[in-house]
Amino acid sequence: MSTSNSSSIAIRNRINDEMQAMLDQYLPDRRPMSLDDYDWDQIRPESVDQDFLEAIGFVTLIESNPKAPGGQILSAADRSEAPWLRRFITQTWLPEESMHHVPFKEYLIRAGAYEKTFLDSEIDKVIQRGFDHGEGYTELQAATYGWLQELITWRFYDSIHSYLLSNATTDNPADPVLLKILSDIAKQENFHRHVYLTGARTVLKHAPERKGEVISATAEFLMPGHQMAPEWQLKAPLWSVKFKFSLRRLIHDITRDLVELAGYRGLGQATILYGSRHTIQWYLKPLVTLLNPLSRSYRSPVNYLAGRVIAGTF
Ligand SMILES: [Fe+2]
Ligand SMILES: [Fe+2]
Repeated sequence: MSTSNSSSIAIRNRINDEMQAMLDQYLPDRRPMSLDDYDWDQIRPESVDQDFLEAIGFVTLIESNPKAPGGQILSAADRSEAPWLRRFITQTWLPEESMHHVPFKEYLIRAGAYEKTFLDSEIDKVIQRGFDHGEGYTELQAATYGWLQELITWRFYDSIHSYLLSNATTDNPADPVLLKILSDIAKQENFHRHVYLTGARTVLKHAPERKGEVISATAEFLMPGHQMAPEWQLKAPLWSVKFKFSLRRLIHDITRDLVELAGYRGLGQATILYGSRHTIQWYLKPLVTLLNPLSRSYRSPVNYLAGRVIAGTF
């Protein structure tokens, strides 16, 4: 065995040991949500409007097929020989994510917002469409994708939860069941975000030369809804305005984590690459206004400057 081979195995083992220790600490106490967690007699669908119910319909669909993105992440884990990532997906991520659409769907049917047959047929379409983003990813690219996706999802649930609370009045109090579903799911999404981010951080601690993988996965990032439920995804910008989703806060968090993972140069380069590949997405709009074509090499001063400007702005 060559020296470089045995040293890369040693690095992989160190990353795996650290991540397994973290999973040992958290996974045994976790459990997926259940329909029995909620008092269904307490729902108050009259307290929310049509837009809100439609947004809940959208997340019901997006959450209905975690096996598709989960399969991509498992392939990445195996490809990169990262047993920690396989363990996280099979022991916690999939069991938890597989339950996220269940209380939403129950709520919508009980509220009379959608027929069960309609939701089932929309879910079938989501399953048919599958999910091919991230094909060929390494464990680090998959962890980067997971970190961004869970961060955005967590913030979205958090903002609609706050929207319900801020709209409540004494005569029309917020729906307690909806509040609990949203906060239970948001907590799980936040935990998933934490594991992926810790995974990316741990890989880079032992293999700092791999920053480019974080940058490429960030640059081609797309929310799963674009493929899974494209007609519904079109409404996301409207909902983000109506429910006062804070883009600024989101971009602040992405910026902070990306600087930690890939430096100011990484932040600058990822942003510039992102803008050159995508039509503008509502959740990253302010970043892409800073586009510039002069960023080809990681070490380019343009990347560093762009990174400093973006980090300073958000
Ligand atoms: Fe979820
Ligand atoms: Fe999630």
